[in-house]
Amino acid sequence: ELVFSLNGRERRLVDPPPSLTLAEWLRSEGLTGTKIGCAEGGCGACTVIAVGSDGHPRAINACLRLLCGCDGLALTTVEGLGSQGAGYSQVMKAIAEGQGSQCGFCTPGWVTAMSALL
Ligand code: FES
Repeated sequence: ELVFSLNGRERRLVDPPPSLTLAEWLRSEGLTGTKIGCAEGGCGACTVIAVGSDGHPRAINACLRLLCGCDGLALTTVEGLGSQGAGYSQVMKAIAEGQGSQCGFCTPGWVTAMSALL
């Protein structure tokens, strides 16, 4: 059994497929803000925030992280940082106001990476 939090909500998963990546699982759960671009750790479109036992937020590539490697983590996806309904985060607002999205495909990855840094 895996136990972790996702966007502030505890999740428990029993016997997940050992080869399933975090990115694939997130998207199957409807959290499609986490994109899969290169699927090899190069583009950052799949970036999510992970906080482990040391309490330090880190930007991780969900395409490289196996879901089974997420036990005990607190994960935040771009959906957990803000939305139209809940209100946008400061990073989201800065990108929108600065015309910083370009095509927008990897923008969620930028939002999560900058949020982890800040
Ligand atoms: Fe490109 Fe994960 S999809 S780094």
